[in-house]
Amino acid sequence: MRILALLDGTLVDPDTPLLRSHDLGVQRGDGIFETILAVDGHPRELEAHLDRLERSARLMELTLPDRAKWQHAVRTVLGEWPWGSEREAAVKLVCTRGLDGGDGTPTAFVSGQSLSEELMRKRARGISVVTLERGIDPGMMERAPWLLLSAKTLSYAVNMAALREAERRDADEVVFTASDDSLLEGPTSNVVLAEDGRLATPPPSSGILRGTTQGALFRAAEEAGWRTAVEPIARERLWRADGVWLASSIRKITQVHTIDGTSVATDSGLHERICKLYESRY
Ligand SMILES: Cc1ncc(COP(=O)(O)O)c(C=O)c1O
Repeated sequence: MRILALLDGTLVDPDTPLLRSHDLGVQRGDGIFETILAVDGHPRELEAHLDRLERSARLMELTLPDRAKWQHAVRTVLGEWPWGSEREAAVKLVCTRGLDGGDGTPTAFVSGQSLSEELMRKRARGISVVTLERGIDPGMMERAPWLLLSAKTLSYAVNMAALREAERRDADEVVFTASDDSLLEGPTSNVVLAEDGRLATPPPSSGILRGTTQGALFRAAEEAGWRTAVEPIARERLWRADGVWLASSIRKITQVHTIDGTSVATDSGLHERICKLYESRY
């Protein structure tokens, strides 16, 4: 299932060609995006996603259509979605810098699409992960803002290449590591560890995306009396943790059972508690 809306709220046949060959989003990956989970008609963390879209646009010096237009286009897509037959939708917001040599008008649209069977299987069964070097050090984001390390840009070719490398190594997913061997994030997710009743995740200052899912989970956990920490995490802590998860809007909180070929702790009771905490936000 696919639904496509423009920012004036017009619905477009998703098979209609929309981008021109000289759109900078296509030519250079020069644009930004967000992917939001909607369940039973309700978008999760919509405002947090729009905040992050605006932040990415600021870092990229990109003209972004008004928030009200995005909200309207999201509502249009959700209004068309067949909730009776599909309870979840991935809603994608895309904005490019527009045409090469154009007047600077961005190309923007919102699409809704079904979740894949494979994603559902991974949510249910858990995943194996490999750690891969990202080649950045923890101070890089501040030193080199032009690398756009914390912006959610359309330039995901490296992230996709890392996933293919994981597949070559018989794993489902990746956790990137920094040059000091601390944890960063997955190609499309944040990493969360549980250690003695405390949840931990690496800090955005290390050059990773501030995750809306991880944020929602930590807020729910704090309200339920858990301690949480956003701190540098050395790679070896993965194997000492009580549990490890990858968190992102569409995958939700997916449990990791194997890292670099070695099992990590998986406690189904703990996994259930973590998932319930996250779901309690909605
Ligand atoms: C690189 C990266 N890190 C983290 C995340 C998790 O963000 P969120 O929980 O807001 O989906 C994503 C989401 O796709 C991502 O692409």
